[in-house]
Amino acid sequence: MAGARATLRRGFDRVERALDLAFGPDWNPLAQLGPLGWFLFWIVALTGVYLFIFFDTGVSAAYGSVKWLSTDHWWHAGVARSVHRYASDLMILVMFTHLLREWAMDRFRGARWFSWVTGVPVIWFVYLSGITGYWLVWDTLAQYVALTTTELLDTLGIFGEPIARNFLSPQQLSDRFFTLMVFLHIAIPLMLLLAMWVHIQRITEPRTRPPQGLAAITVVALIAGSLILPAPLQGQADLGTIPQRLGLDWFFLGLYPVIESVPAGAIWAGAAVFTLTLAGLPWMPPRSDGAAAEVFLDHCNGCERCVADCPYSAITLMPRSDGAPFRFEVKVDPVRCVACGICMGSCPSSTPFRRTGDLVTGIDLPDYTLADLRAQVIAAAEDLDGAPGSGRVLTLGCGAGAGAGPAPARVQVPCVAMVPPSMVDFIISRGLADGVCIAGCAERDCRNRLGIKWTRERFARTRDPNLRARVPRERVLTVWAGPTETGRLAREVRSFAERLGALPPYEKLRPLDADERASARRAAGRTAAE
Ligand code: HEM
Ligand code: SF4
Ligand code: SF4
Repeated sequence: MAGARATLRRGFDRVERALDLAFGPDWNPLAQLGPLGWFLFWIVALTGVYLFIFFDTGVSAAYGSVKWLSTDHWWHAGVARSVHRYASDLMILVMFTHLLREWAMDRFRGARWFSWVTGVPVIWFVYLSGITGYWLVWDTLAQYVALTTTELLDTLGIFGEPIARNFLSPQQLSDRFFTLMVFLHIAIPLMLLLAMWVHIQRITEPRTRPPQGLAAITVVALIAGSLILPAPLQGQADLGTIPQRLGLDWFFLGLYPVIESVPAGAIWAGAAVFTLTLAGLPWMPPRSDGAAAEVFLDHCNGCERCVADCPYSAITLMPRSDGAPFRFEVKVDPVRCVACGICMGSCPSSTPFRRTGDLVTGIDLPDYTLADLRAQVIAAAEDLDGAPGSGRVLTLGCGAGAGAGPAPARVQVPCVAMVPPSMVDFIISRGLADGVCIAGCAERDCRNRLGIKWTRERFARTRDPNLRARVPRERVLTVWAGPTETGRLAREVRSFAERLGALPPYEKLRPLDADERASARRAAGRTAAE
């Protein structure tokens, strides 16, 4: 399973690199699937409302009204109908690609379970919204869908009398029943909206709007597709005949031929197994997250930076409880924390420059503390080849990008935003290396959602804690590269090393003193013993 996931991850990375060339990292559609799903929902909703103006909800008049708007008013209402259909189809495509990508990126296990599990009902609501829409056109395809669906529902035995009977002869289908179908096609999308809203509740700053350019491309493509290939309309439904399976929309109705040929029990069992297996995936081994972040009130002044930076809304601000002269303290919800370490990187107390006592900060990862990070940095620096000034590069790489994997002079972190900017200052000013490379995920999408954004803003000094102005920028390199770009990362580090080697010696060096080395060794010893 892990092998399949890694292969798929690399596959996505390769395709996304090609799309980066075409669209640029910000507009890359594969990195915008969640926002695109939301956007498509709104397109479907708006075109649906527009169509409703022209739609006649009576069973005998429904088909006529769809035919009229598709032919007489093809240039606005007809286009709206086609866009309504194609945007729904695209939503299915976007949804399953998004699901696969989140799975491939390992963003579904541990504390991330909530977004995954709440995504599962979304799948069903999307399908049900589409299927009930097909009924309304009341052409022969609608007749086929209505009969096949209701026959399947009847096998559950939960309705007083079989509902498929409504579709067996013209006398039995009443306007009232047809109005109920219209009602379902409005109510289910509203339930879908609610499910989509719940889906993003555990995410800080969820992206529900694609970048404007990508949104414009999507709208233009949908309109162009609708003009070139308008949504088909079959002949009017005739309950006196056996409906034919004609012009199936494979996105929504692809399983209907299976429903026809497989016993109903197997269909229901298959749907239940699919739903439960999918919803249970987050709890299947191996578990990926480490222990949740821990707060150390003695080192916390309630500044709220960690609250703002946590990508999973796992930290809440509380009134101070320890009598310290600050208004607030913070509390981590271990159920939500994915152990990305971003909060540790945002805490003003996270400074590796502390010389005495244990290196403690306001908020820390029990499995990978600030002290561990500093010890690893010092140990990696000791492994660097070359004399000081020759272009020695120390790389801090995120495990989800090209910076993963063991390599000399490379320290792996769960997210590059876990590295407090003062660590970069520390490495350079203490002469541990001539330059620092921060190697994060591919620019289009950070595994921890906001790690790239926060790192950029901290380094640009627009977000606290920022990289102090005294740190020479020519000695800092940031590389955003996916797992298939290890070659590019290596090349960029090599040419960075050459540039560093040509720089005049760094003047403000203040090498590590004996105390600092001893404290780092103690921490390193503790990490090794654990
Ligand atoms: C049309 C349906 C869907 C829409 C519109 C949608 C939308 C979104 C959005 C907007 C986000 C937040 C993205 C961000 O800001 O980083 C998100 C995250 C997520 N979605 Fe969906 N989603 C859909 C279906 C699904 C399905 C079916 C699944 C899987 C069963 C799923 C799994 C996830 C997961 C695991 C995340 C969280 C990623 C993380 O931890 O960063 N989604 N989705
Ligand atoms: S490690 Fe910190 S930033 Fe990351 S999810 Fe946990 S509390 Fe939030
Ligand atoms: S960033 Fe540090 S000091 Fe600020 S509230 Fe969080 S733990 Fe406390």
